[in-house]
Parts: sequence; C-alpha cells; structure tokens
Amino acid sequence: MSKILVTGGTGYIGSHTVVELLESGYETVVVDNLSNSTAGVINGIEGITGIRPVFVKADCTDKNAIHKILKTERNVMGIIHFAASKSVGESLSKPLTYYRNNIDSLLTLLELMPEFNVKGLVFSSSCTVYGRPDLMPVGEDAPVKKAESPYGNTKQIGEEIIRDAIGSDVSYKSIILRYFNPIGAHPSAKIGELPNGVPQNLVPFLTQTAAGIHKELRVFGDDYSTPDGSCIRDYINVVDLAKAHVTAIGRMLENSDCKPLEYYNLGTGKGFSVLELIHTFENVTGVKVPYKIAGRRVGDIEQIWADPRRANEILGWKAVETLENTLRSAWKWQQAISNL
Ligand code: NAD
Ligand code: WQD
Repeated sequence: MSKILVTGGTGYIGSHTVVELLESGYETVVVDNLSNSTAGVINGIEGITGIRPVFVKADCTDKNAIHKILKTERNVMGIIHFAASKSVGESLSKPLTYYRNNIDSLLTLLELMPEFNVKGLVFSSSCTVYGRPDLMPVGEDAPVKKAESPYGNTKQIGEEIIRDAIGSDVSYKSIILRYFNPIGAHPSAKIGELPNGVPQNLVPFLTQTAAGIHKELRVFGDDYSTPDGSCIRDYINVVDLAKAHVTAIGRMLENSDCKPLEYYNLGTGKGFSVLELIHTFENVTGVKVPYKIAGRRVGDIEQIWADPRRANEILGWKAVETLENTLRSAWKWQQAISNL
C-alpha cells in the first residue's frame, strides 16, 4: 500500500486520520513540530492500531527538514496536510505568525512534491471560507466570502495557492476538504482533542464544564433567528471526518477519474443549535451542564450547515455517527484525560 506523509499527524484530526489510514493498510509518516500536540499521541495511535507509525518531529516551514524526510522515507505517494495554527481568536492578535506558519508550510510542501514525485496533496480547509452564506445548505460552489480573520484568510489563500499551482500544470493533484465543525473523539478514548489553554470551541469547553473545570458554559446568544434563538452548526464526528481523508487519498492516487483539483464539503448535512447540543449531551451522559445565556460572540455567524452530496456521491463517503454517540465519545475522552 502507498506511503502517506501526514503533517500535523499528532494533532486532533491528524491523529484520527493516521489511525484510519493504518487500519486501511496505508503506511504513514507522521510529521509534527508538537506546537499544539504531544509525542505521546503516537502511543495512543499504536494502542488502537497495534502499529507504531514513523514519527519525525519537524517544522513544515523548514524546507531542509522536510526535504530530508522525503529523501529518507522515499516513495511518499501522497501528503495530507493538517499542520497549521488554527485558533481564530489568536490569529487576530498574532496575524503574522498565522500567515508565516500556515502559508509557508504549504509552499514548502508544494515546492518539494515534484522533486520527490509525490502524486497528490489533501488540504485541510474549512467552512469558514464561506463566511456568512446566502443560501443553506452550503454547497461547494457557494461564493467564498471575504475572510473575517487572518486564520480564515490563510485557508482562502492556501486554496488559491493550490489552485494556481495546479493551473501551472504540475505533476500532482490536490483535493481540498472543507470541514464543518469537527467534534468528538475515538471511541477507545485513546486519542482525542487536547486543547491548549482554555478552549474557545463549544464541545471541549462543554466537556470541561461538565467535568467541573469551569463554573459554567456561556451560550453566546439566544436572540438569533433560529427556532430556539441559539446558533446552528453542522457538527461532524472526527472519526467520520478522518475516514473521508482515506477515501480522498484513495481517489486522488488510484482513480483516473479524479480531476487535478477537487473540492469537497465534509459535514453531516444537518444543523444543531447550541442549546440542542447541550441538552443532547445532558441526556446521553446524565451529567448536568451549568450554563447561562450570554451576549453574542463577535464574528459568529447565525447558522451554517453543509450540503455534503458531492462527497457522498463522488467520494462515496457519508457521515454516519449520531450526535448522541459523538457526544458520548467526547465525554469518555474528557474523563480519560481528567484521570491522567
Ligand atoms: P491541531 O492543532 O490539533 O493539529 C494541528 C497539528 O499541526 C498540531 O499537532 C501542531 O503541533 C501541528 N503543527 C502546527 N504548525 C506546524 C508546523 N509548522 N510544522 C509541523 N507541525 C505543525 O488542529 P486540528 O483541529 O487537528 O486541525 C487540523 C487542520 O484542520 C488544521 O489545518 C486546521 O486549520 C483545519 N481545520 C480544523 C477545524 C477544527 O475545528 N478543528 C475546522 C476546520 C479546519
Ligand atoms: C460553535 C457554536 C458559538 C463556545 C470555529 C471556527 C471555524 C472552524 C471551526 C477551523 C457557536 C457557540 C461556543 C462557547 C458558545 N475552525 N459557543 N459558547 O465558531 O462555529 O467555528 O471552529 O477552521 O473556522 O470559527 O465553532 O465551537 O467555537 O462554536 O455558545 O463557549 O457554539 O457561538 O455558535 P465555530 P465553535
């Protein structure tokens, strides 16, 4: 089976994807600078799969280091590029760090791919590129709106860089995956999300509140034009999301129907409100989550959910996990890390 370089492979989505790749018979080379994860994640991956993936601590902005890895590893067929700085809020206070890290990493990989005959790159993009969509659900042809944060801009610029590179008739292909809201953890609770500092995202803050780490969860707004007044998102199970990468890499490397550049939305196609999510969590875990209604969070959009039909039909991938099971997995993971 092909060898895949996974950048950011000890991170949240990357680690779940390495598990799915290994379980599908791929060989993986994990590269991460550990800026937002720990090397211990490799033990979790080994604990699930029985395989210890090759891990190299390196920074994707360091061209010499990546060159050396591609040379040593030989015949890397594809790259899945997760490595990036990902906090919307932090990107507003450290824009240059975000541009340097996210853009430079991508350029490094794209520049090196032809030399090592790497056939394709899967890029982690985000539903953030759609901004405030005019029509719901959001399909891949919806307009890309002006980014509201440097982080979002790095995803838009990254997509444009890939489009221009492919347009120059390079030897490789690319698949751009736009994730909606990834949540949950591997059902084994051996890997999951390890937020740095106080989490800004809803589910890790919720599970930490349920574990007593925070006094209460603030619900950012109950006066939106939605049935219960709180915002609506498309929450996608991280294992489902990881599996989409395996189908994408298979299509890109082995299916001649795959175009030089393809875009896919990865979501469930169903939206849930913040309040629905909290109440679902309480029902499936039996744990009460203290929360209060707070003001709207600046920059939040009212509602967004995916039209995932292209991924369903062309990749043959579909999100199958229920919100209930996904929240159970998030709670099991929170309990596992609380006991460390
Ligand atoms: P994460 O922070 O858990 O994982 C990213 C990993 O990349 C981390 O382990 C970090 O140490 C590593 N990294 C960062 N910069 C690096 C560099 N220069 N060289 C090597 N390693 C580097 O984040 P995640 O949630 O797993 O996100 C993965 C990708 O998906 C990111 O590109 C992110 O922008 C994108 N994405 C995430 C979400 C989300 O809500 N989690 C949504 C949409 C898109
Ligand atoms: C979800 C909902 C909040 C925290 C972000 C990025 C996006 C993408 C995914 C990377 C919203 C509400 C949250 C809290 C709350 N990442 N909320 N109380 O904002 O949809 O998307 O992560 O590409 O680019 O912007 O995710 O989890 O922060 O919020 O009420 O303490 O939960 O208002 O409606 P978001 P989130």
